Amino acid sequence: MDQTNLKNERSLENFWMPFTANRQFKALPRLLASAEGMHYTDVDGNSVLDGTAGLWCCNAGHGRKKISQAVERQLSTLDFAPTFQMGHPIAFDFASKLAKIAPGGPDAKLDRVFFTGSGSESVDTALKIAIAYQRSIGQGTRTRIIGREKGYHGVGFGGISVGGLVNNRRVFPQIPADHMRHTLDIERNAFSKGLPANGIELADDLERLVQLHGAETIAAAIVEPMSGSAGVILPPKGYLEKLRATADKYGIMLIFDEVITGFGRLGTPFAVDYFGVVPDLVTTAKGLTNGTIPMGAVFASRKVYDGLMVGPDNAIELFHGYTYSGHPVACAAGIATLEIYEEEGLLTRAAELAEYWQDALHSLKGLPHVVDIRNLGLVGAVELAPRDGASGTRAYDVFVDCFKKGLLIRVTGDIIALSPPLIVEKGQIETIVSTIGDALKRAA
Ligand SMILES: Cc1ncc(COP(=O)(O)O)c(C=O)c1O
Repeated sequence: MDQTNLKNERSLENFWMPFTANRQFKALPRLLASAEGMHYTDVDGNSVLDGTAGLWCCNAGHGRKKISQAVERQLSTLDFAPTFQMGHPIAFDFASKLAKIAPGGPDAKLDRVFFTGSGSESVDTALKIAIAYQRSIGQGTRTRIIGREKGYHGVGFGGISVGGLVNNRRVFPQIPADHMRHTLDIERNAFSKGLPANGIELADDLERLVQLHGAETIAAAIVEPMSGSAGVILPPKGYLEKLRATADKYGIMLIFDEVITGFGRLGTPFAVDYFGVVPDLVTTAKGLTNGTIPMGAVFASRKVYDGLMVGPDNAIELFHGYTYSGHPVACAAGIATLEIYEEEGLLTRAAELAEYWQDALHSLKGLPHVVDIRNLGLVGAVELAPRDGASGTRAYDVFVDCFKKGLLIRVTGDIIALSPPLIVEKGQIETIVSTIGDALKRAA
């Protein structure tokens, strides 16, 4: 189809869009032109309330001058410099600042920071660090990684192998992995407020997989402490604690993928702080730079870092890294982002709003098609019953309807997922909920 006449003569043909039904989208595009605070403006000048912090990333809202000014300054001072056998001050400065708020606080000692360019790169980096560390301490047979059904860990080959979303996996070859069962149990836990009460026994799956594969083949287990992309799936009470205990028992490293939960989403700086469970590695991205400049970071424990700092001093300890690891402009954006988070108390603001958010969301209970509502911190999900033989279409229609009414939500399958910027006001929470409620009443 010729797309050249759509939207101001702009051609939509050449951009192959990610995770998008390209032909459907290009026939009826939704184009965002600018953003400020809690709102986008589309190319037709309509204001759109951001119910998703972009894609779980703009935690401080949009158009933050402090970030754009820092980026401008950095671009004109040092636009790029390599970090392979070279360094530049701002990468070390950003790592030091991150260490001060590292997951779990000073006692957790998760303060060695490896920079990447995205969440997917953070995940593959963490998997490689885990395997390399095991080998470095004499456990070289440990190369398998345990993930979880419905997990999302980005789109690298490592990430899709440990991830548990079938459409991301079925076409591609994978690294050695196996999966625990997911923790979504609507039958027992529907409409739970916060963490669900049932399902701690699902953590026994790690023990079961140890019995199946042998602990000596397993390097690490990776989970999202709260999974976002599969439609907001929460850990049952006590579940993460149990995973940690089993991992310790068998010398398995534990990785928390905090690409979504990092930087205040749950009302604490990291999910590690929320749950009080300390893993060996934590992956982050998104909120690290408020989504402005692509960047990720892996927090490693000192034990892991020190375990790899062996051999002669002139030996490269980890054969891994990216051209853009510690990119100076991304670091500038990250430092400015951290300053905003601190000045405005955003890393804990979700805790102040969590109850209000929970009550507002759960007021949608009883509306047409709603089979479950889940929430934690400033994250929410409304799960709809699928249409017969056309799963995903109902939520998609609600998504389009909300967009037309000036609200951006996100849908996966028949689940509406919500994660507004952490600057959201109560009135805007009301608007999010009432717009969704009206769309649900209209949805067939
Ligand atoms: C938990 C988790 N891990 C990894 C990723 C991948 O991040 P990216 O899209 O930046 O590669 C995502 C993205 O949503 C995520 O939610």
